[in-house]
Amino acid sequence: MTQRIEIVVGDITRLQVDAIVNAANSSLLGGGGVDGAIHRSAGPDLLAECRTLGGCDTGDAKLTAGYNLPAGYVIHTVGPVWRGGSSHEAEMLARCYRRSLRLAADAGVQSIAFPAISCGVYGYPLEEAVGIAIATVRAELQQLPSIQRVIFCCFDDEMERLYQQQLAS
Ligand code: APR
Repeated sequence: MTQRIEIVVGDITRLQVDAIVNAANSSLLGGGGVDGAIHRSAGPDLLAECRTLGGCDTGDAKLTAGYNLPAGYVIHTVGPVWRGGSSHEAEMLARCYRRSLRLAADAGVQSIAFPAISCGVYGYPLEEAVGIAIATVRAELQQLPSIQRVIFCCFDDEMERLYQQQLAS
């Protein structure tokens, strides 16, 4: 199972994979962080397509083309804002990974890269978020044999270390 999971450090907008996942907000109209980076790299056509989607609920995910990105698709998912842990944040975060993988499998995606959803602006505690990411992806991959590679794209070495620790446990 873990041979289908990889951890890299870098800019997700540069990855040559079938789909990259965007940590978006519910408007799907762009923002800062990885959302801003993806829109900058994909170009204005991405925003134009996002405008047709009518937003996205927390825990849900929606698919668009990748436009100028190396990736063919972008899967926009909306992570939970951390509010202390008693607003179903853990379940919502798990749903982001589950829904994104199922959407990817339905679209015939074989390789998909995730950023650390909710670990930036949305303030999710890093270790907990990474634990949910690894556990949810491991479980989901058992149901989705068509997905051959899942890459966790970390933006810094600290995050990579956290993912490596969780993957090893
Ligand atoms: N490649 C990979 N990872 C990145 C990149 C990048 N180019 N840029 C940022 N990251 C990392 C951050 O370091 C963090 O670990 O992505 C993770 C998620 O951080 P955010 O982008 O802040 O996303 P999130 O915490 O889910 O907050 C979403 O931020 O940008 C807005 O519109 C977005 O309102 C939404 C909110």
